[in-house]
Amino acid sequence: MHMKTEIRVPSILHIGGGAFAEAGPLLVRLHCKRPLIVTDPFLRKNRLAETLQNQILQAGLRCAIFDQTVADPTSEVVEVGVRVYREGGHDSLVSLGGGSPIDTAKAVGILATNGGKLRDYKVPHPIPLAGPPHVAIPTTAGTGSEVSRFTVITDTETGEKMLIAGGVLVPTAAVVDYELTLTMPARLAADTGTDSLTHAIESYVSRKANPFSDALALAAMKTIWHELPLSVRGPANLQARENMMLAATQAGIAFSNASVALVHGMSRPLGAHFHIAHGLSNAMLLPAVTAFSVEAAIDRYAECARTMGFAQPGDSPQIAADQLVRALHRRNAELEVPTPQQYGLDEEQYLAMVPTMAAQALASGSPQNNPRIPTAEEIETLYRQVWQ
Ligand SMILES: [Fe+2]
Repeated sequence: MHMKTEIRVPSILHIGGGAFAEAGPLLVRLHCKRPLIVTDPFLRKNRLAETLQNQILQAGLRCAIFDQTVADPTSEVVEVGVRVYREGGHDSLVSLGGGSPIDTAKAVGILATNGGKLRDYKVPHPIPLAGPPHVAIPTTAGTGSEVSRFTVITDTETGEKMLIAGGVLVPTAAVVDYELTLTMPARLAADTGTDSLTHAIESYVSRKANPFSDALALAAMKTIWHELPLSVRGPANLQARENMMLAATQAGIAFSNASVALVHGMSRPLGAHFHIAHGLSNAMLLPAVTAFSVEAAIDRYAECARTMGFAQPGDSPQIAADQLVRALHRRNAELEVPTPQQYGLDEEQYLAMVPTMAAQALASGSPQNNPRIPTAEEIETLYRQVWQ
């Protein structure tokens, strides 16, 4: 197979139990002197941010904490972060948390360096200059943000969940320590794990897939399919949490280098307008969008089914792909994923928002990576189809 593509990954990945303790020495190796920790109030309260700060201080660096990041990070919070970064004379960023603090730190970095407003860098606009060194430390498994070239920030003025993309957004280094995920409650483990599964499947069927991303996507989906239910059921299942953490990172590298597709394109507006956790809005869409897309890349979807183990090697691609769609529906039931209706959304509001969501999905560019490229009308139909 021929391939000509640019692969971006963090230059250092510290992976494994106990890797968290390496953060201080890692910053020294990267010649950072005054890192700013970007985290959320929860991780401040449970003192994980303080533990990190102490490790960094012990490594001989000066360090402060910005703990105001919010779920579905906003341009307003990013601008506050930029002020704190500048006023503190910081030279580097350490993000600690789920996708939100990591995405916030990426956005702080590019605004601190390039100035302007975040919407200036929204896809398809380029980001001119790289931000300062950024060490990302995820506490979920996971959004893959610690290894990806994307950040998603909601524009406070318009309510739009903006996709911002560029190789310069890939963190300099990532510390991937599954021990930080042991306190994840079941719902969070299910939602972030389904996000990872979506990354793996979407990067494998993406029109921008390549042999490098394919290998990681297949390895990740195989692990996630088997380990996610175990990881959700028992946080004490160390092996499942460790396997999920590695797979989430692999899926993150895969989608960062192959792009996501229609599920993510539709999930961002749905999450933004109705305040649904990212992994959950992905899950609401994944089976229906897969059923819609199968015909355009049937061999690829069949390979997903075989890799995850619910199609026999002798099954025709059509049968294997059908099994995939059925398995995704079953998995949603098992993980108690609600439909938008069951989630409690107002039907009138939801239906009224469908055209706007479809337009925003298309504008993000992600649906154009889908094997079957949808029209606005087809996206609208899919939104209505998943309602109940
Ligand atoms: Fe995602």
